[in-house]
Amino acid sequence: MSKARLACAACQRAGPHNWRAKLVQIAPLCHRPRAIAPGRNLTTVASDSSTLMAMSAVAAPTTVFEARGLTKVYRLGEAEVQALRGIDLDLYEGEFLVLLGPSGSGKSTLLNILGGLDVPTAGRVRFRDHDLSREDDELLTHYRREHVGFVFQFYNLIPSLTARENVALVTDIAAHPLSAEDALARVGLEERMDHYPTQLSGGEQQRVAIARAIAKQPDVLLCDEPTGALDVTTGVVVLEVIQRINAELGTTTAIITHNAAIAAMADRVVTLSDGRIAQVRTNAHKLPARDIAW
Ligand SMILES: Nc1ncnc2c1ncn2[C@@H]1O[C@H](COP(=O)(O)OP(=O)(O)O)[C@@H](O)[C@H]1O
Ligand SMILES: [Mg+2]
Repeated sequence: MSKARLACAACQRAGPHNWRAKLVQIAPLCHRPRAIAPGRNLTTVASDSSTLMAMSAVAAPTTVFEARGLTKVYRLGEAEVQALRGIDLDLYEGEFLVLLGPSGSGKSTLLNILGGLDVPTAGRVRFRDHDLSREDDELLTHYRREHVGFVFQFYNLIPSLTARENVALVTDIAAHPLSAEDALARVGLEERMDHYPTQLSGGEQQRVAIARAIAKQPDVLLCDEPTGALDVTTGVVVLEVIQRINAELGTTTAIITHNAAIAAMADRVVTLSDGRIAQVRTNAHKLPARDIAW
């Protein structure tokens, strides 16, 4: 199956769709993408029974992550730190989630567990058919490589490689990658492909990091304070890129921030406090990133 060609099960249109309707469950208008086998066209897809079933069942969002009773305890010598104290959370396909909360509330710990960088002390977390709380290091590495794109506050680019080469490191080992050029064009850096990190601004370096994260066409994009080191104007450009990737590629996206203004661009906003979920809010209208200011 080609991951690159996606058509909506409801309207058979390829390209960007707004799936927020299903997440707030206001109307069965959501457009769920499905991969088209090479050689099949949209008409044949529209007439097969699985598509008709999908069309009649569009109101139910597909769960990508299911976390239940997640706890995480870090031990530092004699001392214990309770980073997570029982998290129940589902994430839905195509969703744009913002994780808010004060410093130390457990946001990074939760994101790292979803991304297979860490494992819970107790509870369980599933990504589709992967039980991330049970898998060993090798399987988690495979899971991260195949399914997850990470973006961190600091860009972690290799200084001796150009933007194109930094992205190509990932595309060389991925199963169904975008080309490095396509990934960089999607973040608006087609003119900067042969620049080294030191020749790029902070915002441009973060966009290279995003291109690197999406180049393997991950199922999920996990961003930990992606605008934390950027000024407002540059931060908004980076958020616009992430929002566009979410809309165009349908990549389930979770962003950590302590900046409440950014929550306005999310489908759902989950607020953590002292290792627990304090609030889950659904935005009836989400703002384009360019309308956000802080
Ligand atoms: N590797 C670690 N070892 C020990 N304590 C940790 C570790 N990672 C996080 N913590 C602690 O767990 C708590 C939650 O941290 P974190 O998830 O990073 O919070 P946030 O991202 O919301 O700032 C904090 O008290 C932090 O000090
Ligand atoms: Mg953190």
